[in-house]
Amino acid sequence: MNKSFPRDFLWGGATAANQLEGAWNVDGKGVSISDKMTSGSREHPRRFTAEFDPSADYPSHEAIDFYHRYEEDIALLGEMGFKVYRMSIAWTRIYPNGDDAEPNQAGIEFYRNVFKTLRKYGIEPLVTLSHYEMPYHLVSEYNGWGDRKTIDFFQNFCRTVFTEYKGLVKYWLTFNEINILTTPFGDLMAGGMTPDEDEPLIMSLHGKSSPESMQRRFQALHHQFIASAKAVKMAHEIDPDNQVSAMITGMVAYPYTPNPADVLKARQNSQIGNYICGDVMIRGAYPVFADRYFEENGIKLEIAEDDAQTLMEGTADFISFSYYASSCVSTDEELVKSTGNLLFGLPNPYLEASDWGWTIDPIGLRIFLNELYDRYQVPVMIVENGLGAEDTVEEDGSIHDPYRIEYLRQHILAMKEAIKDGVDLIGYTAWGCIDLVSASTGEMEKRYGFIYVDKDNEGNGTLARSRKDSFYWYQKVIESNGEDLG
Ligand code: BG6
Repeated sequence: MNKSFPRDFLWGGATAANQLEGAWNVDGKGVSISDKMTSGSREHPRRFTAEFDPSADYPSHEAIDFYHRYEEDIALLGEMGFKVYRMSIAWTRIYPNGDDAEPNQAGIEFYRNVFKTLRKYGIEPLVTLSHYEMPYHLVSEYNGWGDRKTIDFFQNFCRTVFTEYKGLVKYWLTFNEINILTTPFGDLMAGGMTPDEDEPLIMSLHGKSSPESMQRRFQALHHQFIASAKAVKMAHEIDPDNQVSAMITGMVAYPYTPNPADVLKARQNSQIGNYICGDVMIRGAYPVFADRYFEENGIKLEIAEDDAQTLMEGTADFISFSYYASSCVSTDEELVKSTGNLLFGLPNPYLEASDWGWTIDPIGLRIFLNELYDRYQVPVMIVENGLGAEDTVEEDGSIHDPYRIEYLRQHILAMKEAIKDGVDLIGYTAWGCIDLVSASTGEMEKRYGFIYVDKDNEGNGTLARSRKDSFYWYQKVIESNGEDLG
C-alpha cells in the first residue's frame, strides 16, 4: 500500500488568463467572451453584454495585471517551492479573432517569456488551451462551438502553440471543465446567449434549461470532444513528450435521502455530468447511457462519419478535475422549490458551507478520486481546489487565513487517503494561488490566494502583492512533500 505522496508529486497552483492577466486589449489581443462579462456579486449575477456598457465594470480588463507583473508573481510561486503552475493561454492573444490567417507575434512572445521565467524557477507549466475565454468574434460570427468550423480554428491555435512552445511546455489540458456544457452555464460558448438579454449566467447547475439550449450545448460539446481529440493527437505528433489531459469539474452529487429514487437521480446526475465527458475523452467513445438521455431529451447530434475514429485516436493521457464542493439532489420537487435555485443543490445537513454557500466536503474529494480511478485507471490530477473567502489585512500588513489553511489541510488529508486507497494521484494545483477575479461573481474579494493582491471589488487598490499565513504553510507542505500539514 502506498502510504504517502509519490516523490515526484506535482505540487502547485492554478489560474486562468482572463482572471488575472488584465491588459485585455494590449499588444494586439482580441476580445474574448470573458472580456464582455460584467462584475457581479453574491446577490447580483454577472451579465454578458454583447456591446460594452459604459456604466458597467469589466473585471477581466485589468484583473491583477499579471501581464505586466508576471516576473514578480512567478518569483513568489518559486519561493513557495512550486513544482507546477497551471495557467491558460488566452486564445485571443494568439489569434485575436479566432479565425485570423496569421497569429499575433506579441502574444506568442508574451507566453514564451512566461514559460521561460517559470523554467528559471524550476516550475513546470501546465497549460489550459481553453479556459472560458474563446474569441468573441467566433461566438458572434459562428455561434461559437455550435459550428463545426470552430474545430478548425482551434486546431490552428493548437498547432501554433504546440510548435512555438515545444520543449518549454509538456503538460496540457484541452478544455477547462468541458462538462460545463452539460449545464446551462455552458450556453454562451455554444453560441446560445442572446446578447444584452440581461440573462443571469449564474444559475443552478440543475436549473432551467430549454430543449433548444440542451440541443445547442450537447452539439457544441460534441464539437469540443472532436477538437480535444484532434489536439491530443497533434500534441503527440509535434512532441512525443507531450502529456495531454481531459479536464472536468467534479460534480459530486449525493442523494438527499435513502429513497431509491433519490439514489438513482444522484447516479444519473453523475453519469450525465461527469461520465459522458470522461468516457469520451478517456475511453474514446460515448457511454451507452448517453443514448437514452439524448433520445429522451430530444437531443439529435450531428456526427460526421469519421468522428468515432477521431475520438478513439485522441484519447487523453491523464484525467484532471476541479473540486470545490458537493451537492445534494432530490426527486421531491416541492422540497427543491422551497430551497430556491441553489448552485450546489439542496443544503447538506452534515456539511458546513463557505460564505458563498459552497459546501466544504473533503470526503467528497476522496470519493470522487476513487470513482474516477476505478473507472479509468489512468493517472489523475486535481487541478483546482480551494476556499474562496474574504481576508483582512492587519495593521502590520499580515494576513491571517486559518480558514483557508484548514480547508486545504482537510483536502490534502483526503488526497492522502485516496493514495492509500490505491489512486494514482500525480499532482495538485490549488486554485487561485494568487488572488484573482472570481469566475462566478466577478468579485476580487472572493479570494483563494496564498498571495494577497491589494484590490477590492470596486477596483481600488495598489495591486501590491503580499504573503498570507497560508503562503508559509503551503511552502512547508511542499517542502515536506505533504507530510507537514501542521
Ligand atoms: C472553476 C473555474 O469552476 O471554479 C475557475 O474553472 C473558477 O475559473 C473556479 O475561478 C472558482 O470559482 P469562483 O466562481 O469562485 O471563481
